[in-house]
Amino acid sequence: MNDLQKQNKPILLSGIQPSGHLALGNYVGAMRNWVQLQENYLGIFMVVDMHAITVRQKPADLRNRCLSFAAQYLAAGIDPKESIIFIQSHVPQHAQLAWVLNCYTYMGELNRMTQFKDKSQRHADNINAGLYTYPALMAADILLYQTDLVPVGADQKQHLELTRDIAARFNSTFSPTFKIPEPFIPEAGARIMSLQDVDKKMSKSDDNVNNYIALLDPPAVLRKKIKRAVTDSASEITPESLNRPGIGNLLTIYSVLNDMPPLDVVSSFEGQQYSGFKNELADALVAFLEPFQQRYDTIMNDKGYLSGILDEGAARARYMASKTISKVYRKLGFVPPGPA
Ligand code: TRP
Repeated sequence: MNDLQKQNKPILLSGIQPSGHLALGNYVGAMRNWVQLQENYLGIFMVVDMHAITVRQKPADLRNRCLSFAAQYLAAGIDPKESIIFIQSHVPQHAQLAWVLNCYTYMGELNRMTQFKDKSQRHADNINAGLYTYPALMAADILLYQTDLVPVGADQKQHLELTRDIAARFNSTFSPTFKIPEPFIPEAGARIMSLQDVDKKMSKSDDNVNNYIALLDPPAVLRKKIKRAVTDSASEITPESLNRPGIGNLLTIYSVLNDMPPLDVVSSFEGQQYSGFKNELADALVAFLEPFQQRYDTIMNDKGYLSGILDEGAARARYMASKTISKVYRKLGFVPPGPA
């Protein structure tokens, strides 16, 4: 079990909430980078179901999505021999450390979290304490594994900064206990925007399914979504198209799918009608997602394989996390339990 840690690779950790549908934005902004980084880091990739219940979820959907998301991590190329994949609730130390960190996090700090403010507006009927203390759970996720690097998008930067503050506070109150994690900001982060609300980031939990490209959308749906994607009143591609909302985003998507610099995409489509370009983009998208979806189906048809990977991932995670939690409990002054 310890073969991975023996290689002494720095630890890279991230997680996605099992809500909505994994979207092209998640692939480009997160999963694609995880796959590249897993060679040089020990990757720890979680499906954070405990975070997801801060907003109401249907139990059957939550259960299916956890497995489906894990299978999509694998289909995207996360190698379970290199990296650790698990479901957060399989590792009880997350809840244990989250409680402790709650006691080392100030309400004043939590009050400043912009995601809490946004989410309490969107879920005004359910502003629960979990939604409020969620950053302490996220800090626990990260600090349990003595994580070196956390890939973060803009929306999670504030939570990572808080994690660093909590870790430093605990370390200085007691003695060095947690590694202080660094943010990892991918080099050229292409930002994928919503297809209809062109000024918003593409979100996997958007109420309007036409706003995002789900990684599991069937070809006909993919084509329809691209066809309906909002552009502007111009009708052909010009060098300025890249800077325009809507068409610029579609060009970016094409550039990502084909691993081609955006300027090259523009020059190869210059003068073409938007509609013609959209057809080409739809073809590229279908071709890109087809092999991913095939791998996904194979994994989902072998539940034993998937649960084996998740069990092994959770076992490795518990082993690492239990070391941190014992250290923390000891420093706090909790009496170690005697032999049963
Ligand atoms: N809060 C993150 C989000 O909503 C998900 C998350 C939970 C996470 N724990 C994490 C991300 C730890 C990075 C590291 O997107």
